[in-house]
Amino acid sequence: MASLSPEQVIEGQCQDWNRVAGGWEKWDRFFDEQMAFLNHRLVGDARLRTGLRVLDLGSGTGYPATLAAQVVGAKGSVVGIDLAQQMLDAAERKAASLQLSNLTFRAGDVTTLPFETASFDAVTTRFCLMFLPDIPKAVAEISRILKPNTWCAAAVWSAPDKNPYLKIPLDIIKQFVDIPAPDPTAPGIFRLAKPGELSAMLQQAGFIDISEQEFLSDVRFAEADQYFSSLMDIAAPIQNLWAKLSPERQSEAKQRIIHTAGQYRNGSAIALPIAVRMVAARKPG
Ligand SMILES: C[S@@+](CC[C@H](N)C(=O)[O-])C[C@H]1O[C@@H](n2cnc3c(N)ncnc32)[C@H](O)[C@@H]1O
Repeated sequence: MASLSPEQVIEGQCQDWNRVAGGWEKWDRFFDEQMAFLNHRLVGDARLRTGLRVLDLGSGTGYPATLAAQVVGAKGSVVGIDLAQQMLDAAERKAASLQLSNLTFRAGDVTTLPFETASFDAVTTRFCLMFLPDIPKAVAEISRILKPNTWCAAAVWSAPDKNPYLKIPLDIIKQFVDIPAPDPTAPGIFRLAKPGELSAMLQQAGFIDISEQEFLSDVRFAEADQYFSSLMDIAAPIQNLWAKLSPERQSEAKQRIIHTAGQYRNGSAIALPIAVRMVAARKPG
């Protein structure tokens, strides 16, 4: 298949994430409880403190933007940018319910940031950069909008083998339909899984003090069908593959996914491992 143009990637991402925005809002509390540790890690890696002006890239329904806004407080501010207005609508409702008046959201593309040069004190981004058509361009943009001597902190998915949480349905869908191996440089869930890849892009853009860690944990579910429904409600790229299956095959694949996930039961929970690549870097001052 011919590769997509950057504009087609952006348009596809926008449609995909708008489509699942309702699912993100439905499962918001559950995933916040399960994955808040990643937000805390990003807030730490970005060296957030009171008074800073922070930009959160691909903010979606507001992670880690909401925690960042709590940390920088009334003297600081956070802007979350995302392509998908419906994700941002959910984020805005959450910010209002949390009375976070220092948190605003703006629709836009991370590869062409609509902000002035040297206008932010920190950048955070969780599970966004791997979906961009031109990651080095976005990294150059991050460097442009950051003030000197400030930090960028990113979380991206590591390798599929270390992420049964995502790999289980992908493997099972592949049992039913032929999915060509993705181009390793094409945007997608595991585009930045390779160790050192995002770090090298940051270094190329002039960042220093780069750190990278594969951060291991799990997502815990009461039952395997809770895992299945929540993932299918929020994971736009997996939904796209799922749509290639006939209803009969979907029904069989669902049983297999639930059965496989059930093998991860540990005590009262089904604990599905995740591995997240945490990368932080400083713009020199
Ligand atoms: C998996 S969601 C992550 C949302 C949030 N950061 C979180 O961790 O819960 C990925 C988000 O990246 C956004 N995104 C993808 N490509 C983008 C781009 N080029 N510019 C801005 N946002 C983008 C999508 O719209 C989507 O909301």
